[in-house]
Amino acid sequence: MTDPQPTPAPGPEAPSARTLVIIPTYDERENLPSVVERLLAAAPDVSVLVADDNSPDGTGEVADRLAAEDPRGRISVLHRTGKEGLGAAYIAGFRWGLERGYTVLVEMDADGSHPPERLPAMLAAVDAGADLAIGSRYVPGGSVVNWPWQRHVISRGGNVYSRIVLGVGIKDITAGFRAYRADAIAEMDLDSIESKGYCFQIDMTWRLLGAGRTVVEVPITFTERTVGQSKMSESIFREAAVNVARWGWEKRRRQLRSLVGR
Ligand code: GDD
Ligand code: MN
Repeated sequence: MTDPQPTPAPGPEAPSARTLVIIPTYDERENLPSVVERLLAAAPDVSVLVADDNSPDGTGEVADRLAAEDPRGRISVLHRTGKEGLGAAYIAGFRWGLERGYTVLVEMDADGSHPPERLPAMLAAVDAGADLAIGSRYVPGGSVVNWPWQRHVISRGGNVYSRIVLGVGIKDITAGFRAYRADAIAEMDLDSIESKGYCFQIDMTWRLLGAGRTVVEVPITFTERTVGQSKMSESIFREAAVNVARWGWEKRRRQLRSLVGR
């Protein structure tokens, strides 16, 4: 979906004036150059951090080349030693961005599924006061293109399950395209985040909501990758199911304790 009118550029005081887009990569050599090009065309003033887990296909070197070739020096690369999961790559990226004073931290996949053209609308939502703007497939105007039916079932089911168990109203809590106010992340205990796979997305949302932060959803069209493979796995699925059940249980236990006054 496209905006009826282009989103106005942020003023120098807006949080999004210092935005870092973190792109985690594992074997995305063929996808990374085009996604970075699209991103910098859609949002020319952001900085980019590629967080590569020593991809066997040489994505790290591709990222280094992109960084060296950018005339404005907007691209940096975090070379990590091995595959530790999406959550660990993002936490390292968040730390890198916080140390350098970025005021908005963005998560975006490398495979072209997340439309960078929607980033300005997400940044506008953060500038308007949101602590987290989720690029959402499941609010009016959002959609998914080219997924097999099994993946629709897993994603929809995961969202319904999380909504019921956690008791939250977010329509796309597992979404991986997100813009955070950096101060909302700075006050979190990043060391305590154990979620390794895509459960990391639910974990972050759950923590922000628990801290009383504002979460909004901005519609996006998610288009399944055409090159390379999804890293979704059974263990990623299981981790999410178990952790959500635990958080839901802990919440109910807290509620019960406060009811009986102890
Ligand atoms: N550094 C690093 N390490 N990157 C990783 C790892 C890892 O262990 N695992 C995956 N990635 C990167 C991929 O290279 C890609 O850029 C991004 O994370 C998303 O991985 P995909 O494998 O393409 O995810 P997906 O398409 O199955 O899932 C998407 O949708 C999920 C919800 O339905 C992602 O957006 C997930 O974040 C999201 O939860
Ligand atoms: Mn993908």
